[in-house]
Amino acid sequence: MRPIRELAREQEDYVIGMRRQFHAHPELGEKEVETTRTIVRELESMGIPVQTFDGITGCVGVIEGSAPGATVMLRADIDALPIQEVEGRSYGSTCPGVMHACGHDCHTAMLLGAARILKEHSSEFHGTVKLIFQMAEEIGRRSEEYVKRGALEGVDAIFGMHVWPEMPTGIANFERGERMACSDRFIIHVKGVSSHGSAPHLGHDAVLAAAAVVMALQTIPSRINNPLDSLVVTVGMMNGGTKQNIIADDVELVGTVRTFNKAFRDSMPERIGRIAAQVAEGYGCTAESVYYFGPSPLINEDADLVRLAQGAAEKTIGEGCLVHKDKVTGAEDFSVYMEKVPGIYGYLGVGNREKGIDCVVHHPAFDVDESALQYGTGIYAQFALDYLRGQEK
Ligand code: NI
Repeated sequence: MRPIRELAREQEDYVIGMRRQFHAHPELGEKEVETTRTIVRELESMGIPVQTFDGITGCVGVIEGSAPGATVMLRADIDALPIQEVEGRSYGSTCPGVMHACGHDCHTAMLLGAARILKEHSSEFHGTVKLIFQMAEEIGRRSEEYVKRGALEGVDAIFGMHVWPEMPTGIANFERGERMACSDRFIIHVKGVSSHGSAPHLGHDAVLAAAAVVMALQTIPSRINNPLDSLVVTVGMMNGGTKQNIIADDVELVGTVRTFNKAFRDSMPERIGRIAAQVAEGYGCTAESVYYFGPSPLINEDADLVRLAQGAAEKTIGEGCLVHKDKVTGAEDFSVYMEKVPGIYGYLGVGNREKGIDCVVHHPAFDVDESALQYGTGIYAQFALDYLRGQEK
């Protein structure tokens, strides 16, 4: 078999073409109907059987090797964002207010390129490669829907990566340890008693109590959390009241929690609930809290998979392509799969200052250096092949 890096280079035109097609026709999470249709059509044209799922978009392609063996899953996310793209791009979004501003069009196209390589060479490995094209990464932990529907059954390991414009083309990052935080949400309802704004002593001010709750919540990062662990508690919404001269009786606080510490995270609903209730009580009000667990922290724990991914990157891009990248308090619902099976998640550099491509993800001017896409294609295919060959007895 010829080196994957060469095979990936030969897929470059196809992958860039598919990326531009997806980029021009972005669809929001859970609404990726045409995107899914295109992916299914492409996979089927390669002779790859495809599984779709009731009630959700996205799909799973299955490539069987020449003999039974282990199963490795490669993941791409397929959804776009509610952003109006800057004008002037020949392949720009044709859908007003919707844009592939996080590069999921690239992930999808690169995985289709890898599918072609792996299908063409399926006689040369034992086991199974599953390709999951996942909907709605931007929404929360919708990846769980595939887990519920059995898509991970029999899967021994899962691989995913994200294009990253802050790293230049020719650079990749796969490393052990904490990579992304959890992204949880909480809602607190502070209830008081209304009165005239000129006579606050006749009521119990929910605005004042809610303000005190917001302040008190910051003692979780500063006084309860171990300072050596990262923790963010942000109240991003505070809604209540109806008029300047009415003491409000109802305020809603909505916030997010980011941490890498799974045990501490599990304690957050109780901590937030207790602080909110007791602070509110001090102001003659009540507070009820609800906590929603989003994507869990993404932690690359499996040293063998990390080494395998690093090797795949070096074989595809070349020696010296690997760099350290700091963890971030953003989140990624790939971690939901990693709760079930061993996994590895990394980053692929797609920035290029000379071409003016260095805009961060989720920005209206986001773009990628498309010459990096062949590397992503190669890393997907190489990882799958190396994993399965390592499992052959
Ligand atoms: Ni993304």
